[in-house]
Amino acid sequence: MTAELIDGKKIAQQMQAEIALEVADFTKRTGVIPCLYIVMVGDDPRSRTYVQRKMKALESVGMRHQFWHWLSWDEHGHGMLVDDIRHYCSLKWCHGMLVQLPLPPEYDPFPIFDAIAPEKDVDVFNPVNVGLLLQGRPRLKPCTPAGIVEMLKRSGINLPGKKVAVINRSNVVGKPLSSMLIQDCNEYANATVTICHNKTPPDLLKAITLSADIVVVAVGIAGFLTADMVRPGQVIVDVGTNHLPDTNKLVGDVDFGPVSEIVAAISPVPGGVGPMTVTMLLRNTLEAAKMQVQ
Ligand code: GUN
Repeated sequence: MTAELIDGKKIAQQMQAEIALEVADFTKRTGVIPCLYIVMVGDDPRSRTYVQRKMKALESVGMRHQFWHWLSWDEHGHGMLVDDIRHYCSLKWCHGMLVQLPLPPEYDPFPIFDAIAPEKDVDVFNPVNVGLLLQGRPRLKPCTPAGIVEMLKRSGINLPGKKVAVINRSNVVGKPLSSMLIQDCNEYANATVTICHNKTPPDLLKAITLSADIVVVAVGIAGFLTADMVRPGQVIVDVGTNHLPDTNKLVGDVDFGPVSEIVAAISPVPGGVGPMTVTMLLRNTLEAAKMQVQ
């Protein structure tokens, strides 16, 4: 492998040590321990793993969590969920509210996002916060996009002036990441962004990835970004989380071996974007508590 490895795991550990100090200082000054309320509906084993990871990380930096797990749900559940989210968001000890995705397919996520109080919306899912982000004045920054930006920044990779191809158009990754990267703000933006998605013709997709300086891929298909789609000098950010059917091994969306022989730098899976996303959740929980307590 000739590419430099972008070590998200190591950066996340450094950031979590910084956050732990800030939490200790905040709690000493205010007497308040920041608490994240986590809601999970259904029993998706991957969601379970992610939620457990988030709870462990919160504990490790001195914050609290309350986990509310709906194992069974029915047609009345959606309304109850919305009401309960509103109720828990009204409580003083709940500083952040996280609804783990995906929700059951019969649940409309938008009324649920609308019910999350904007000041407690650590995922930046509420439309008020999405709007503030788009206008370039976010209160909190969305976890995965902010994790990608922070990982690049701390790896010495500058975004201003760069051409970025984002292969994803979801509300969690592609849309918020592109709206961060195009802001007129040298700290994390001033990039030129092209969004690609599952209706982008393959030839066009390849032309776009080959012309980019940085390629961010989040399609959920192991080995999707192949060696013919990249060129020397590029930075590749792999947001994919795929479990191989035979071994259950976790891999990203990049055909890692061949691609890492060509490009300049690449984030691995595991150990890249995943730990950064969790770390930005910790940061947002602390920032949300600060907004409410100070
Ligand atoms: N499921 C996959 N990614 C995310 C995320 O960033 N936030 C939430 N709430 N659920 C997810």
